[in-house]
Amino acid sequence: MLDVGKCCITRFPSPVLGQKAKPVEKIDDSIRALADKMIDMMVQHKGVGLAGPQAGVDLRIFVASPDGTKENAKVYINPVITPSGKLVASEEGCLSLPGIYGKIRRYSKCLIKAQGLDGKEFSEDAEGFPARIFQHECDHLDGTLVADKLSTVAKIGARKKLKRLRENYEQQNK
Ligand code: NI
Repeated sequence: MLDVGKCCITRFPSPVLGQKAKPVEKIDDSIRALADKMIDMMVQHKGVGLAGPQAGVDLRIFVASPDGTKENAKVYINPVITPSGKLVASEEGCLSLPGIYGKIRRYSKCLIKAQGLDGKEFSEDAEGFPARIFQHECDHLDGTLVADKLSTVAKIGARKKLKRLRENYEQQNK
């Protein structure tokens, strides 16, 4: 059983953020509790998406709310994404990489298939900002962070902040 009470936002370079997350095998009460907790964490930290590894949980689940409200938050379990359209660069940040922003190229559209908390499969066509969120969150489930996708120049610019995050992580995990 997951102890969702202990979930807090994991930050770079926490190992869970760099791993390929495992499929959710069974959608039970612990998954429902996790989803509720993840929605609360996302809204509290003014995010528009949060993936399982960001809650310290190595599972293929994310929550998203393009306007950042709890009312519009939705849960995506075992998502499969098919991007389409053209690549568009736009500024992105990540709750696991505080202070780091950069232009990231994403497809303008995507089709996402996932399971909801009722276990039923659904699909959504997304365009623009929601499509960007889905691609960002699905990247998390494969262990990819925005820091990995920054341009060479932006990577150099983010070096100090990444170093500070590494130092903080070492301090907290001594
Ligand atoms: Ni993120």
